[in-house]
Amino acid sequence: MKQLQGRDLLSIADLTSDELYYLLHLASEFKSGKLSIQCKKVLGLLFYKASTRTRVSFSVAMYQLGGQVMDLNPSVTQVVRGEPIQDTARVLDRYLDILAVRTFKQEDLETFAEYAQIPIINALSDLEHPCQILADFMTIEENFGQLKDITLTYLGDGNNVAHSLIIGGALVGMKIRIATPVGYEPLPSVVEKARKIGGDITITNNPLEAIQGSQVLYTDVWASMGQEDLANDRIPIFQPYQINNMALAVSDPQAIVLHCLPAHRGEEITEEVMECQQSKIWDQAENRMHAQKALLSSLLGLS
Ligand code: CP
Ligand code: NVA
Repeated sequence: MKQLQGRDLLSIADLTSDELYYLLHLASEFKSGKLSIQCKKVLGLLFYKASTRTRVSFSVAMYQLGGQVMDLNPSVTQVVRGEPIQDTARVLDRYLDILAVRTFKQEDLETFAEYAQIPIINALSDLEHPCQILADFMTIEENFGQLKDITLTYLGDGNNVAHSLIIGGALVGMKIRIATPVGYEPLPSVVEKARKIGGDITITNNPLEAIQGSQVLYTDVWASMGQEDLANDRIPIFQPYQINNMALAVSDPQAIVLHCLPAHRGEEITEEVMECQQSKIWDQAENRMHAQKALLSSLLGLS
């Protein structure tokens, strides 16, 4: 799909519904081996936060596309000494073909996108995690054969992952229920944006009500990267939002369980549920690689 060539992915909202479905289709073609591409492009990874899955899945995806990866660890580049994003972006633009940035502020990603002509990918910010959602939707489609009208309940913190699920869910016609403790709801601006797309979104503080009959149960850590100091205080507040056997019992009998990982067993999810048959967490993690291969090849104009 040539219309994706050269574009940025800063938010899942940067895709239309057709483009999102196209990426999911392409990801399946890569996964099944029907499609293979060889290129000589270079992907830069500039990660200001820790990462296992995103870093490795992007790297392997790029190698499998025949390209190269440069890990631009901020602590050994001039960004650690305060070189402005405007300057870094303009210089990296001259060397690289595509750049994935993991950072705190969404505005920083926007600055990268403004000053670099090459595609900029949001590899997680405090606001969104669009690449995660591509893999999540791929996993849901693999299990249910469709996304439209599937009910997904997200329990926990109204964070970056929740935000991208809300907007992405609106793009594909899923029913998204978000249950958080009072004061931890997703940003109203995100919910409003998704509702404008036509999203069917329920925001509640009642976890049991949210889980009833749901086909996908999803959770994430209760304290995200950068919030480590708050983690202990949050445990009692978030306890009623844990995904455990009781939660599974009131969801749809065919429900699947997803978690973007890393997980804190005994906090947002129990060991039993993580390891049960309904857990598709490991397929979900694998799909990061296929989905990002589809994204890279599309933004680079290779597919
Ligand atoms: N889910 C996810 O983005 O994992 P990493 O933080 O390990 O990249
Ligand atoms: N919400 C989590 C997601 C980690 C993949 C965080 O931002 O730390």
